[in-house]
Amino acid sequence: MIKLALIYGGRSAERDVSISGAKEIEKALDKGKYLVRKYDPATDLSRLVKDATEIDCAFILLHGKYGEDGTVQGLLDLLDIPYQSSGVLGSAMSMDKHISKIVYQRAGLLTPAWVHLKKGEGFDVEKIVQEVGLPAIVKPCNQGSSVGISIVKDIDFLKKAILTAFDWDDYVIVEEFLKGREITGGVLGLDSLLCLPIVEIIPGEGYEFFDYEAKYKPGATKEICPAQIPEDIFLSAQKIAQKAHRALKLEVYSRTDMIFTNDRKIYVIETNTIPGMTPTSLFPQAAEAIGISFPELLDRLIELALEKKTRDSFRTH
Ligand SMILES: Nc1ncnc2c1ncn2[C@@H]1O[C@H](COP(=O)(O)OP(=O)(O)O)[C@@H](O)[C@H]1O
Ligand SMILES: [Mg+2]
Repeated sequence: MIKLALIYGGRSAERDVSISGAKEIEKALDKGKYLVRKYDPATDLSRLVKDATEIDCAFILLHGKYGEDGTVQGLLDLLDIPYQSSGVLGSAMSMDKHISKIVYQRAGLLTPAWVHLKKGEGFDVEKIVQEVGLPAIVKPCNQGSSVGISIVKDIDFLKKAILTAFDWDDYVIVEEFLKGREITGGVLGLDSLLCLPIVEIIPGEGYEFFDYEAKYKPGATKEICPAQIPEDIFLSAQKIAQKAHRALKLEVYSRTDMIFTNDRKIYVIETNTIPGMTPTSLFPQAAEAIGISFPELLDRLIELALEKKTRDSFRTH
């Protein structure tokens, strides 16, 4: 039996998403293979530290700050517990929308034009619009699930949107809003990466983009897997997801969100290092499409976590 610590909940704005995901994971995990103990960093950190020597592997199902951003990964590294997500640096870089965009550019990937703002430093809306144009999309730098995001069509609303994003984070990006089709690509593996089929995301009528409600209200969004896009675009998007994964130094798995524009270009929006994990979430859906069931996917992630740990300890000795 593998003693598995399921780390869920946490303190970010995506706490509820994590709690419902953890329930699904617990249900799907093979009871004959895993002995599961649950830990919520909001209340159980000292218990986790105390139990460390009895834990074979951790499954981190935390989204956003203090979970997906490298902090919990750092704690687990110190405790010598293997886990299924990327390490400290990759997690931290991917969580920060400004840093990850710099990394994409450096890797030769397209990403929408953007401006990076720091709370308290002031900003000039006219200048921002000159750089990114309108409509623009305003995002807190370190958030997920579309929390704190607004689309701005009129310069008069830009200041308010920026201040709203600052309610969530000390850093904000204002990005060029791209018209096109939203697609997402999962990758899985360590040295050799398996690209999952690309999924197209179509928010239902009434949703301007893939916002919090569109993401989590059943039926609010159509997800088409595999995406019905030209084959060359499908393959390029898979390569881009793989390139983003490698450029950000990610491990085990990730899911990169992209926009395919009318002029046939693919722009990278962001990479999720702990993608949603209910059986109907995007990553598990894409795995299912190539015959990897949800319980099999969980097995695969845990195997990769253990393999990563063995490889890393081998290197340090
Ligand atoms: N530059 C952009 N142009 C058009 N739509 C965007 C752009 N950036 C984000 N979006 C929309 O907003 C959603 C959330 O943005 P994203 O950067 O993925 O943040 P989060 O981390 O909150 O998921 C995306 O899924 C997409 O629907
Ligand atoms: Mg996203």
